[in-house]
Amino acid sequence: MEISYNPSIALQSHQSLIIATIVTLLPLLLAVWSLFKRPHKSNVSAPATSTGKEETRQATPSSSCNGATDSAAFLNDGRAGAVDEEMVTADVSKVAAEMQSGASMMEQLVPEITTHALSYLDYPSLCRLSMTNSLMRKAANDDNAWKALYHKDFTLEQDSVTPVNGWKAYYAATRAIMNVNTEFFNIIRSRSFPAMSCFWLNADYVKCIHASGEHYSGYNAVIQSWQVAFNWEQDVDFQVRDVRARVLTDMAWVTMKTFVDIDSGPFNMTNVFEFHHGRWYLVHHHSSVMLPAGGDMGQQIHG
Ligand SMILES: *[C@@H]1O[C@H](CO)[C@@H](O)[C@H](O)[C@H]1NC(C)=O
Repeated sequence: MEISYNPSIALQSHQSLIIATIVTLLPLLLAVWSLFKRPHKSNVSAPATSTGKEETRQATPSSSCNGATDSAAFLNDGRAGAVDEEMVTADVSKVAAEMQSGASMMEQLVPEITTHALSYLDYPSLCRLSMTNSLMRKAANDDNAWKALYHKDFTLEQDSVTPVNGWKAYYAATRAIMNVNTEFFNIIRSRSFPAMSCFWLNADYVKCIHASGEHYSGYNAVIQSWQVAFNWEQDVDFQVRDVRARVLTDMAWVTMKTFVDIDSGPFNMTNVFEFHHGRWYLVHHHSSVMLPAGGDMGQQIHG
């Protein structure tokens, strides 16, 4: 009994072990099988079905989304495949319709919200955004957006002015004159007499009042005074702050403070520019005069 019983138990346990193993391994095998089946199937069946599928795809406006359509075509055959492709085609045409109406989430915002969102962008970003599409171009050219950017980048002053060509143009004009004004100080730092000669308008009415208190009138006298200053002075390190520009069509003036060193007070300066032949020229420079306080006479600066 024991002899006949034991093998049956052994067989039973062996059978159950086999069943358990099959049950455990079957999903794994199926997974591995399907993994190997996909590329194999697409390689083999693709040429056979491609002609028909190609025609279907060409008939629908889905050719712009080839990736999705191709994988759907290769993974499915028969009715199931047809249904899936229909779904893909429906999705594609939905996307196409959305693209045609140009309705992205950003563009569906209320204009006030868009303007607010744009107020967080800086100057290059706003310019880049305006190049994306017509709706964004309209939003990025919004007058209030540029007024906000002007206030952020330059000054809160001039809140009440109404620029004739809008705030975007005014922003650009202000940025241009700021760059010209920066160039003035770069010329002083590099002591370039030729550059300073080109920077001034060649006219008899230009005037320059240096920090020394000396006053020069007329192009030749003004230019000579800079030549003397560049030859005479040693290197001065200075910082320019509180730069404010007001730009009209062909005239602009800039006020600023120039700190030669931290201890002494600032030189208060004004530059006046005129627009001639497509560029800005300096016609007037006025620096406040350093007062000889406490025998500290070494702080004088031309400029
Ligand atoms: C420039 O103006 C400031 C006031 O903003 C004044 O304290 C300073 O003395 C002035 N500088 C000169 C050199 O006059």
